[in-house]
Amino acid sequence: MKKRKNILLTGGAGFIGSHVVRLFVTKYPEVHIYNLDELTYAGNLENLKDIEDAENYTFLRADITNAAEIDYLFAQYRFDSVIHLAAESHVDRSITDPMAFVKTNVLGTVNLLNAAKETWKDDLKGKLFYHVSTDEVYGTLGETGLFTETTSYDPNSPYSASKAASDHFVRAYGETYNLPYVISNCSNNYGPNQFPEKLIPLFINNIIDKKPLPVYGDGNYTRDWLYVIDHAKAIDLVFHEGENSETYNIGGFNEWKNIDLVKTLCKQMDEKLNRGEAESEKLITFVKDRPGHDLRYAIDASKIHSELGWKPSVTFEEGLSLTIDWYLQNNEWLEHVTSGAYQDYYEKQYK
Ligand code: NAD
Ligand code: TYD
Repeated sequence: MKKRKNILLTGGAGFIGSHVVRLFVTKYPEVHIYNLDELTYAGNLENLKDIEDAENYTFLRADITNAAEIDYLFAQYRFDSVIHLAAESHVDRSITDPMAFVKTNVLGTVNLLNAAKETWKDDLKGKLFYHVSTDEVYGTLGETGLFTETTSYDPNSPYSASKAASDHFVRAYGETYNLPYVISNCSNNYGPNQFPEKLIPLFINNIIDKKPLPVYGDGNYTRDWLYVIDHAKAIDLVFHEGENSETYNIGGFNEWKNIDLVKTLCKQMDEKLNRGEAESEKLITFVKDRPGHDLRYAIDASKIHSELGWKPSVTFEEGLSLTIDWYLQNNEWLEHVTSGAYQDYYEKQYK
């Protein structure tokens, strides 16, 4: 296993990042994890309460769009590797404010690449820039087929276009400056600590409150869902065992049409909340479709499976049950993130 001791992890207060921080801090006590996060609406230090006092963990509040701040932190801490997750991550927000996505996802990534290039220029050995990306860069599939690592990029939303651009910059820094890098492109994640703007936590929150469940269009859109802790484990493997300059697709082998997923969620929640049969399903409301809505995402994860031995550890039903339980038990977390600015967002998005 490659030894890297001083890891800069960006976006560690967010959904996926917080699970990766926890995994690394607890599994690798000899390694120091620096969690750099600007704490936007999506960043929440409550996600990391259980590990915040660990000796091998430091939180750095900083904005990746600020090059001077990033250069200063690299000079100060001499990170030997980067796991880059900080991003604007929600498609609907990218439709109303694309520039925020250009700034954070494109400019922010290039700022980190520049700082890493400069800091590592005299000795690239053992260094690594790991860029965490999405399957949405590949665009949309029809009814059949899967995204592989060689599928052409064809992004359709401002979010996926900004992630595609950032992937291209990472690859270009590898080609042009020999910067050691890996990229992984993962399918839709779900699990504890996901901000309730994404489908599953938004619908869990609305079911709890008996509010309408706004299904976009006819609900016949397909996503490939992966439990977030399985993604964190894949990131650990790619970081330690992945080949330099390679891309790894990560996915759950778990396709669901939105409408079928929502009905399954309603059923599980009715059971857990002791509600009548099909009570929550009555909350389903078909609403105006998302512009440029990608029909189907599905990942061929055979490369990471055959080369690194990764596969998901939980079934969707198990993962969904764990997720619902977490939200039901963490009412305070949910209340904190849905107060204030969230209400304005909700009003504008679903009015
Ligand atoms: P998230 O929105 O929950 O978290 C993003 C984090 O980045 C937050 O903590 C936020 O404060 C931080 N951040 C945002 N702008 C910043 C800035 N300018 N400077 C510093 N920090 C900033 O996102 P997530 O769902 O955890 O996704 C993490 C990464 O994984 C993203 O790069 C995303 O594209 C990718 N990804 C997400 C999914 C998914 O289903 N959620 C799937 C595949 C890939
Ligand atoms: P989302 O969780 O936003 O992830 P992504 O757009 O990155 O795949 O959405 C997942 C699917 O659910 C997508 O097809 C859009 C749909 N969706 C709804 O139908 N209603 C909603 O309120 C949201 C947020 C999403």
